[in-house]
Amino acid sequence: MIGIRAATPGDCDAVVAVWEACGLTRPWNDPVADFRRALGHDAATVIVAEEDRRIVGTAMTGFDGHRGWIYYLGVAPDRQGCGMARQLLDAACDWLRQRGCPKVELMLREGNPAAGLYEHLGWERQQVHVFARWLA
Ligand SMILES: CC(C)(COP(=O)(O)OP(=O)(O)OC[C@H]1O[C@@H](n2cnc3c(N)ncnc32)[C@H](O)[C@@H]1OP(=O)(O)O)[C@@H](O)C(=O)NCCC(=O)NCCS
Repeated sequence: MIGIRAATPGDCDAVVAVWEACGLTRPWNDPVADFRRALGHDAATVIVAEEDRRIVGTAMTGFDGHRGWIYYLGVAPDRQGCGMARQLLDAACDWLRQRGCPKVELMLREGNPAAGLYEHLGWERQQVHVFARWLA
């Protein structure tokens, strides 16, 4: 039985373990800090898929007033292919809709095969470049 719910602070280790198992962490990002920041205010959340009391999938989402964003979509390697990403994306979109968010976007690293998932689910490739800078 799969349950989809918002993460609570006590889920941190299990959520980060999924991110690491899925190859979603990067040396320049602190995943524990990312998790705590997302749960630290009302404009963001981490949604988890739980199966037999084990967290097997995650999606971080947040609304900045213009767009909703999704980060850290990941499903444990031994549970992929069961429709969990679809459910997590649906739940993230519902969370955003409930806050009046009109459009959702996400960033995908070049070469990530998950592009096929988004295209399959009807997401449209955008003609934009992403620029970033550190604020610390
Ligand atoms: C990408 C990922 C989240 C997909 O999770 P998943 O639970 O296996 O996906 P689902 O089973 O929910 O797939 C939903 C649908 O998309 C399809 N799909 C999944 N991955 C796909 C891919 N790479 N290419 C094309 N279609 C794909 C499935 O066949 C399924 O189709 P159906 O419902 O019509 O049968 C998972 O492979 C993962 O964790 N990858 C590593 C982390 C990652 O790269 N995340 C994305 C970062 S933005």
